[in-house]
Amino acid sequence: MTTTDTPRYAPEWLELREGADAAARAPELLEPLRARPAGGTVRVIHDLGCGTGSLGRWLAPRLDGPQEWVLHDHDPGLLELAAERAPRTAADGSPVTVRTRRGDLGSLTADDLAGASLVTASALLDVLTADEIEGLAAACAGAGCPVLLALSVAGRVELAPEDPLDAEIAEAFDAHQRRSGLLGPDAVAVASEAFARHGATVRTHASPWLLGPGESALAAEWLRGWVGAAVEHRPELEPRAERYLRRRLAECAAGGLRVVVHHDDLLALPRPVSPGPTGGVS
Ligand SMILES: C[S@@+](CC[C@H](N)C(=O)[O-])C[C@H]1O[C@@H](n2cnc3c(N)ncnc32)[C@H](O)[C@@H]1O
Repeated sequence: MTTTDTPRYAPEWLELREGADAAARAPELLEPLRARPAGGTVRVIHDLGCGTGSLGRWLAPRLDGPQEWVLHDHDPGLLELAAERAPRTAADGSPVTVRTRRGDLGSLTADDLAGASLVTASALLDVLTADEIEGLAAACAGAGCPVLLALSVAGRVELAPEDPLDAEIAEAFDAHQRRSGLLGPDAVAVASEAFARHGATVRTHASPWLLGPGESALAAEWLRGWVGAAVEHRPELEPRAERYLRRRLAECAAGGLRVVVHHDDLLALPRPVSPGPTGGVS
């Protein structure tokens, strides 16, 4: 991906969503990842597009054994925050260390992931293109480790109470997400296909944000971004969308709005290496 048209992610936005992200993640997909590496080996975990490191704060304390996190992002400010705020201990008290790697994930190769025990990312897939996802699947297949890709938007939102403009805004938002070849709501299907083609077994699990009165600050900020992106894609919506946003923000402030933003988590497990005819590995 070129960096010229790359959106910058405000740390304040990433912080605001961290609690809802944590509540939404699918712990069911962690089961195959729980086994400790043999002989006290350090687990090397690559977090792609780490932002402020929210995924590491959730995942590191859920896995046993010593861990080394390699945090990747193209934004140096976010990398610095992620390194500062990284957890220091694993579930069993083993040490967790971090290092950072600044760069464009579009050019990630299997060599960059050599020695990885796990590759993971959160809220990343939907801002990639099909070529970038193909490159990611190829790099991960080369590394031969599990891959956990969390919280990709699914292209479905539910708002209660309903409003006649909901569907039109949702459609314009999804079209905005698909701008310039980005995958937006198609990302999980495209990634599932790419990882399977590279020999992985793929599982997905729903990971929706459930936003009620307790998450009104996040819901309001999400609404501003959701409606704003829809209008950017279809400027003629503006007068109606402005009134819509005012109505929705008032409902939100009064504790009368519930929003479900559907996401999916994806786990890709590499094909087990089969014994060759002489008992070696093929
Ligand atoms: C939506 S944020 C998610 C951040 C974090 N994973 C989280 O869940 O809070 C996407 C992150 O990916 C990074 N990013 C997006 N495209 C990238 C690319 N092509 N190369 C490197 N980093 C990228 C952004 O800088 C941002 O930190």
